[in-house]
Amino acid sequence: MRITVNRKAHFNAAHRLFRSDWSDEKNLAVFGKCSNPHYHGHNYELIVSVTGEIDPETGFVMDMKVLKGLIKTEIEDTFDHKNLNEEVLEFKKLNPTAENISVVIWNKLRSKINKTLDLSVTLYETPRNFVSYSGE
Ligand code: NI
Repeated sequence: MRITVNRKAHFNAAHRLFRSDWSDEKNLAVFGKCSNPHYHGHNYELIVSVTGEIDPETGFVMDMKVLKGLIKTEIEDTFDHKNLNEEVLEFKKLNPTAENISVVIWNKLRSKINKTLDLSVTLYETPRNFVSYSGE
């Protein structure tokens, strides 16, 4: 029997979506308001989901204290109140779309979580726009 535990987290961050090889007009046409050269912020909501067997000794899939700590050190400390384009290494050459942020978050957490557990992340960029990634 496999079961999923979920932890919610939150960070505020600024970004700009653009390609330097495109004109301002094309960036605006494709990325809309998110192409603003002066950056803008989002209140990102993150759900981290871990699936596995229940440990018969503890009754846990994963100790939520550990998961909370991992999200803080790996994600919140890196992204919260940051300009993603300027301050987060992964986005120096990668557009910080919700899709790409989700993949970066998944990769950061995946390396820290027991391989017997499945990992999925869901990232809300706005209350209505959200992305899910499970590493496939
Ligand atoms: Ni945006």
